[in-house]
Amino acid sequence: MSTTVVTGSTSGIGAATRAALREAGHAVVGVDLSGADVTADLSTAEGRQRAVDAVLDRCSGRLDGLVACAGLGPHVDDPARIVAVNYLGAVDLLDGLFPALRAGSGPAAVAVSSVAAAHLTWETNPIAAAVDSGDFSGVEKAVASAGEYRGQFAYAAAKNALTVAVRRRAVEWGAAGVRLNTVAPGAVDTPLLRAGEDDPRYGASIRGFTAPLGRHGRPDEIASLIVYLLGPHAGFVHGAQFVIDGGADAALRPHAV
Ligand code: NAI
Repeated sequence: MSTTVVTGSTSGIGAATRAALREAGHAVVGVDLSGADVTADLSTAEGRQRAVDAVLDRCSGRLDGLVACAGLGPHVDDPARIVAVNYLGAVDLLDGLFPALRAGSGPAAVAVSSVAAAHLTWETNPIAAAVDSGDFSGVEKAVASAGEYRGQFAYAAAKNALTVAVRRRAVEWGAAGVRLNTVAPGAVDTPLLRAGEDDPRYGASIRGFTAPLGRHGRPDEIASLIVYLLGPHAGFVHGAQFVIDGGADAALRPHAV
């Protein structure tokens, strides 16, 4: 039986992924703020280290899969916390658990990014310098120009940086035999999306936009893609980003290939 770690395992896409993996016969170690196998606050360096240590302890240093899913939505009015959870909460776990994945069987990892990753480029990403220097103390200032929409700016920046981080690791991870990809969901019906719909700044635009397929995604639909990417049928899929958004990105940016 293979063992996969899922962060953000108690809600939304993470919970659906945990359920789908279990149904497929895999052991799952869930990580979340509460109610999970491993409880840890991924917004802090100590919490991220504690999560890595606890997972390594539980899996005896050998892991077959990792899904970095925990995240905060753009409605959260704390850019530093958004970047800490959505970027560092994923990348520090990827890096901290890489040695255990190398020791696994047919190992693979998936990071949950977002279609928002393509809302800016690496060249215009306000946290690119922080990512490259490792000094995240200036995040608030870096996104301040977005005013009351700084949460959205930080969210897109963190997701863009996460997708770049995965691509940057493709050579080293591929040589080690560990596949690594991102999924980039559009609007998926979860507590995170519903909080955005209830937010006075974002609610109208979220409710007013419908993907070409005419609905939001369901968490289990994203989980299906993640399970595929972790499994042997995706054996040549590496360093790639999979948009899963009901056609929204194609409708908004038809020429962006
Ligand atoms: P959700 O709110 O249902 O689940 C997020 C999970 O992350 C929760 O279980 C929460 O407790 C956990 N989490 C938050 N902060 C944490 C922290 N500091 N430490 C540990 N765990 C923490 O949200 P959803 O929608 O399932 O989001 C999952 C991922 O999918 C996120 O990374 C999100 O950015 C991404 N995503 C979601 C979209 C959507 O429309 N729902 C669209 C695109 C991406």
